[in-house]
Amino acid sequence: MPAAYIPALKYHFLTPIYDWFIRLTMPELKVKNRLIQQAELHAGEKILDFGCGTATLTLLIEEQTTDCVIIGLDTDPQIMAIAKKKISQKKSAITLLIYDGKTFPFPDRTFDKVISSWVFQHLTTPQKIASFKEINRVLKSQGELHIADWGKAETKLMRLLFFVVQVFDNFYTTNDNIKGKLPQLIQNRGFQQVEIVGNQSTLFGTLSYFKAVKT
Ligand SMILES: C[S@@+](CC[C@H](N)C(=O)[O-])C[C@H]1O[C@@H](n2cnc3c(N)ncnc32)[C@H](O)[C@@H]1O
Repeated sequence: MPAAYIPALKYHFLTPIYDWFIRLTMPELKVKNRLIQQAELHAGEKILDFGCGTATLTLLIEEQTTDCVIIGLDTDPQIMAIAKKKISQKKSAITLLIYDGKTFPFPDRTFDKVISSWVFQHLTTPQKIASFKEINRVLKSQGELHIADWGKAETKLMRLLFFVVQVFDNFYTTNDNIKGKLPQLIQNRGFQQVEIVGNQSTLFGTLSYFKAVKT
């Protein structure tokens, strides 16, 4: 049975406005381009966008790389329908896959890099742990994980603003983020050199950029 998942804007009826909402409220392209820059993608690499949603990040990765194999993975068929439409409009070679939220549909050591934006805020602690385990499994040795997601608030204002996200999204999925627990959760799943590469203040709180290397 597929695991339960939270849609991009919590409710399915809001999914059609996801792209519009995130572009209006967040420095979306700045965040996604910064994450791509952080990942230092090289020609010929195999790259997974975990929780790709409408595939905005996935398409940016394709635009900024050559000869890479790029796969977008998500649990939600509704948002993936939007992603598929965007990808076919761009005549892209990206592969999009829907999975059960538990086991990634890839053999061990498939990818050079896994990239992910704004996904872990939607996962319970056990789902985060299971996802980091799966990401670790499908990464090659010395493969890298790059994440942009909510982190520990840098100021009281950022903490206050993040309260809005917690009320809207859920406290039980966002607490790990705001309590600064993501690095430890990643490290415990077989990663080394887990670091917060940078922080950015946004309308909804502190966004952190994480990097980890598979041992
Ligand atoms: C806020 S959206 C972010 C989408 C995209 N990464 C972006 O930055 O625009 C969160 C995404 O995570 C997906 N998601 C939720 N649970 C998931 C899981 N267990 N595995 C993979 N994706 C999941 C949702 O379907 C949704 O597309």
